[in-house]
Amino acid sequence: MSAKIIDGEAVASRIREQVKAAVEGMAQKHGICPGLATVLVGDNPASQQYVRMKQNRCKKVGIESFGHTLVAEASQEEVISLVRQLGEDTKVHGILVQLPLPGHMDEEAVLNTIPLHKDVDGFHPVNIGRLAMKNRKPLFIPCTPAGVIRLLEEAGAEFEGAEAVVLGRSNIVGMPVAMLLIHRNVTVTVCHSRTKDLPGVCRSADILVAAVGRPQMVKADWVKPGAFVIDVGSNRVEDSKAPKGYRWVGDVDFDEVKEVAGAITPSPGGVGPMTIAGLLQNTLRAAELAIDKLSIS
Ligand code: GUN
Repeated sequence: MSAKIIDGEAVASRIREQVKAAVEGMAQKHGICPGLATVLVGDNPASQQYVRMKQNRCKKVGIESFGHTLVAEASQEEVISLVRQLGEDTKVHGILVQLPLPGHMDEEAVLNTIPLHKDVDGFHPVNIGRLAMKNRKPLFIPCTPAGVIRLLEEAGAEFEGAEAVVLGRSNIVGMPVAMLLIHRNVTVTVCHSRTKDLPGVCRSADILVAAVGRPQMVKADWVKPGAFVIDVGSNRVEDSKAPKGYRWVGDVDFDEVKEVAGAITPSPGGVGPMTIAGLLQNTLRAAELAIDKLSIS
């Protein structure tokens, strides 16, 4: 039997509409427009494309975006000084530093400079630290991991006592997804390049989240029948038959795995749109926090 396809674009579209309505309400009630500053260092084409997409989506829901681009050779001090300046700017409610940064920069030092109440990516060490602890609440939850959880909820996944396997331990996806699942009383195994018998470990999962950046690595015989499979991967592969000579695939072999899984996200069209929708939600929330602060001071 073929799996239920989890339509991330449809869920993201609903979220975008909600954000747009809230942004309009905020303008009417408070005369304030949420603002997102993006900081892009270098000319990595994928990062340029992601930032462009984020800015376009902001515009469509009425969020003002302030784009800043620095050359790859920029010094860490220059980036930090820009982030500090944006931290002081009252029109900027959220700050997003696109990752990865060039190799000569200390990512943590840069992320540390973002004021907590503007950390719409949720990557500030304090936000991540709170996410990792029991009974602590980060101000912002990282966008892609939040999108993964939302899609599992939409698909009707049972969290309590379920077994989840997360493929990949990145700071941006794998680790925060694992923490969010643990908060929902899921038993989580995080796999990486040195995990033994990866297919066997994956087959134990009621919930399988793939975030490794390996095109179509997860095959049908890696998946427990009926499992929820969330594919965070987005990989460009050569394809001479495709109009552009390449196409995008996830970390999961979708055509095979959909015959075994209970529910599955496509890629593209699954988690990707949720990342940007989450960023819009977080930017709106950052603006709400700024308004709350104004009204109590
Ligand atoms: N690089 C890849 N994904 C992300 C993301 O969600 N936020 C930022 N800032 N950088 C990224």
